[in-house]
Amino acid sequence: MRRKPIVAIDGPAGAGKSTIAKIVARELGFLYIDTGAMYRAMTWKMLKCKVNFKDENKIIQIANKTNIELKQLKDKLKVSVDGTDVTKKIRTEIITKNVNTIAAIQGVRKVLRSKQHKIGQKGGIVMEGRDIGTTVFPSAEKKFYLDAKPKERALRRWKELKAEGKRGSLENIAAAIRKRDYRDRNRRVSPLIKAKDAIVIDSTALTLHQVAQKILNEINKP
Ligand code: CDP
Repeated sequence: MRRKPIVAIDGPAGAGKSTIAKIVARELGFLYIDTGAMYRAMTWKMLKCKVNFKDENKIIQIANKTNIELKQLKDKLKVSVDGTDVTKKIRTEIITKNVNTIAAIQGVRKVLRSKQHKIGQKGGIVMEGRDIGTTVFPSAEKKFYLDAKPKERALRRWKELKAEGKRGSLENIAAAIRKRDYRDRNRRVSPLIKAKDAIVIDSTALTLHQVAQKILNEINKP
């Protein structure tokens, strides 16, 4: 029997990938994997070890020995590092600020890519990140590149933070997103780019459910 499809969703920060990937996975009865959470978890570990961020060899050595687990609970993904629950800890500002330094290291990506492969190779998965359709699963059956105008992405992030009771000016959030996207797009290894065969969806003027529906319609096309 042919395996179930692999659905890859890539795009910049704040484009709505996580929420949409979760809805799509739930509708299809597929597993949902947030690869950004893996890079965040690795960053948490490096900060905990107080490793010098310039010491790539040491970072790769630690990455090879770090056990990251994603467990799908009812409506969220539980993330643990070597048995410690870091689900909330990986969403803090210090992680967001440092994550793309760790994500730009080839040896770290190799470790996480091989993990992502193991999880996804049987299909029946919605995997979201920056390089899923280009590097992790270049032969994924369905690829999407989710984007939105920078102003809208910053506004969404601002609302998210506000809902969590955190503060931050819209200008600062927009600047932080700009910086992170620039670094993700311009790194040497697996930069954020649209896969040639990815379907682009601009979600600026769409609701989450409209975007999810567009993706589901594409997936259900014969
Ligand atoms: O904040 P947001 O949800 O947009 O980002 P994320 O998906 O949690 O990813 C955090 C960071 O991890 C990104 O800015 C990238 O530097 C890195 N990342 C990556 O390099 N490759 C992936 N497949 C996923 C995330």
